[in-house]
Formats: sequence, structure tokens, C-alpha cells
Amino acid sequence: ATHKLLLLAGDGIGPEVMAEVKHVIGFLDKQGIASFAIEEDLVGGSAYDAHGVAISDAAMERAKAADAILLGAVGGPKWANVPYEARPEAGLLRLRKDLGLFANLRPALCYPALADASSLKREVVEGLDILIVRELTGGVYFGEPKTILDLGNGQRRAIDTQVYDTYEIDRIGRVAFELARTRRNKVTSSEKHNVMRSGVLWKETITALHAKDYKDVELEHQLADSLAMQLVRWPKQFDVIVTDNLFGDILSDIASMLTGSLGMLPSASLGALDEATGKRPAMYEPVHGSAPDIAGRGIANPIAMIGSLGMALRYSFGLGEVADKIEEAIAAVLASGKRTGDIRTPGGPVIGTADMGAAIVEELGKL
Ligand code: NAI
Ligand code: MG
Repeated sequence: ATHKLLLLAGDGIGPEVMAEVKHVIGFLDKQGIASFAIEEDLVGGSAYDAHGVAISDAAMERAKAADAILLGAVGGPKWANVPYEARPEAGLLRLRKDLGLFANLRPALCYPALADASSLKREVVEGLDILIVRELTGGVYFGEPKTILDLGNGQRRAIDTQVYDTYEIDRIGRVAFELARTRRNKVTSSEKHNVMRSGVLWKETITALHAKDYKDVELEHQLADSLAMQLVRWPKQFDVIVTDNLFGDILSDIASMLTGSLGMLPSASLGALDEATGKRPAMYEPVHGSAPDIAGRGIANPIAMIGSLGMALRYSFGLGEVADKIEEAIAAVLASGKRTGDIRTPGGPVIGTADMGAAIVEELGKL
């Protein structure tokens, strides 16, 4: 099958790291490992400069038609004063909203060669491979009412509302259980049912879903505060963690720091499975931003972006073995001591974006 991939490189270091992904894609294509139909378009500040909007309708149509989207990063000081509706992030938000990308996947993978870059001890993180599945379109970030009231006596009152419907919990739970089946078959569901009604519904819904369709997967429940503590104490006890929008935001940032640099971290955002076509809208992007402080200098780390391609191969194209090979190639390059500036060993030599990309392609050729 030919996989339709839309590349939205975006701003700042986005195009620099995307260039390295294109080399990996070119290699896979040339070797006959996978076949791609590539389209490219603009998003963020670069789309604003060309069209006056953060993503054009034409680009949105391409996004909907694609099997998967790879996005670099958006934003930068150049667009600090553009109209609010056209700010670079609006492009990202429109993609997430119009494609219904409700499930955010953030793996925390610790390459052995980088275990000493973690904020934790080597034995705690070496070989770590966990996946946080965060609900992305509901919860307290979107629930109504959401307002600040003037109480008139010099006091104001801020209100945010946590809202979850059964279907929202059910569909994110399914994503987590399905992913666990492709990994170590364990799901940890996290909420705070001891103090939140949404936590009660979350726990009941996940428990019922498990009993109905996923009895083969091990399920445990952990309160979110306790989970935060366990993530730092002994993270290797986890496989897939599923949680709501707010807790997922915080827990995934904690998990990311177990593994080292922002420049290493990929992510995926998935939408609803279309039963008729078997397809699921999906966008893959590095966790990092456009890094204006280093943009244009050819020194950004392309590993998060290349890892995002790996996630697309794994979760959109059924090419998990190829994704494994990309991870192996990255591990081998790191083990050989090659480093971009963000992951350098103190005093050690540093290579640029293009050399890191080329080194990964070269390792891929050996596997
Ligand atoms: P950032 O992630 O762009 O940069 C934070 C720090 O990490 C910087 O020192 C940067 O040089 C470094 N860094 C990031 N990625 C790197 C890589 N691949 N290799 C080496 N070093 C790397 O976050 P920041 O500075 O808060 O935001 C910069 C711009 O990016 C802002 O306009 C922000 O709105 C936007 N942004 C966009 C995101 C996206 O497109 N999804 C996510 C986060 C921020
Ligand atoms: Mg965050």
C-alpha cells in the first residue's frame, strides 16, 4: 500500500528537522521498505505570511485526505503581533479540532546511551518504555461554565468546570486498551475519584469497558497524585497510562523529563476510528516548539521529528517493525557517541541537524 502523508513543516526549526524526516522517508521508499505519497503545505506563521491565516482551507482539505500528518512546529517572535485568530497556534488548534484528535499519545522512551541525561538515577530509567494516553478535547480545559465573575465587593471568582461524558471516557479507554495489546498488555487508569465526580465516572466507565471488551489486558487504577509519585519513584512498573486532559498534561511532562531532552520526544494525536474505512485521523509531531533561539543555524536535534515518523509508521501504517528499526538506528547512533548540542555529554563533540539525520539513515541501512 502507498501511504498518503502530509508534511506540515511549520516555522523555526520545523523545516530543518522535517528535512531529515524526508531523508528517512526517501531511504525507506528507495529500499522498498514502505511506499509513500508525500504532499507538503504550510502551517503557522509561514501560512500566515503566505495566506493571512494560520492554516488555509486547502491545507485543511489535504489534511483530511491524508492517511497521516507530520507536523514540525509553529510559532516565533516574528508573529507576536498578528491578529489573535491568525496566531500560529491557531493552525494547530484547527487541525486538532477539525480532525477530532481526542487522544494524545506521548511515549517516554529512555535510550540507554542517554540514561545519564535523565533527572533520575540510571537504574530507574534505563530501558524505560512507557506510553501516556491523554484525553485531549474534553475536561476542565473546555468545560462550561468557564469564566471570571466580578462579585462586586472587590472580590472576583474564577470558575473552570470539569466535564466528561461516558462516550469520551469510553473512546479514550479503547485507544489505551488497544495500544496495550500491542505492547506489554497493561493499562493504568488514573483520576481522583476520591474527590471528583468525574473521577468516579471515569473509573466506572473504564472498569466496565475492561470487563466487556478487554479482559485479556491487565487493568489497574491509581489516583493521579499517587501516580505522579510512582512515576518518579519506579516508572518501569507502567506500560500504558490513560488519564484525563489536565492530569495527562502534567503527568506527561513529568514522564518526559525522565528521558532527557525535549529534542528527543515524539507525540501522536489520534481521532475516531472510521469503521467503514478502518482509518483513523492522526497527526504526529515532536513535543518541542519552533526553538527560535536556535532556528536557522542547522543545530536542532531531529530525533523527536524522526521519532514522530516512527510513531506514524507504527500507529497509522501498521509498520511497527520499521518503527522498531528506526528506534534501533537512533539508539545505535547515540551509543556511538554522536550528539546534537541539546544532548551533548559535557565537553564532548557535537554534530548538526543534517549530520544527525544522515547518521540515522546510515544506521538504518545496516539493520
Ligand atoms: P521550544 O520547545 O521551542 O524551545 C525550548 C528550548 O528547547 C529552547 O532553548 C530550544 O532551543 C530547545 N529545543 C527545542 N527543541 C529542540 C531541538 N529539536 N533540538 C535542540 N534544542 C531544542 O519552546 P519555547 O521556546 O517555549 O517556544 C518557542 C516557540 O515555539 C513559541 O512561539 C511557542 O509558542 C512555540 N511552540 C510550539 C509548539 C508546537 O508547535 N507544537 C509547542 C511548544 C512551543
Ligand atoms: Mg504541557
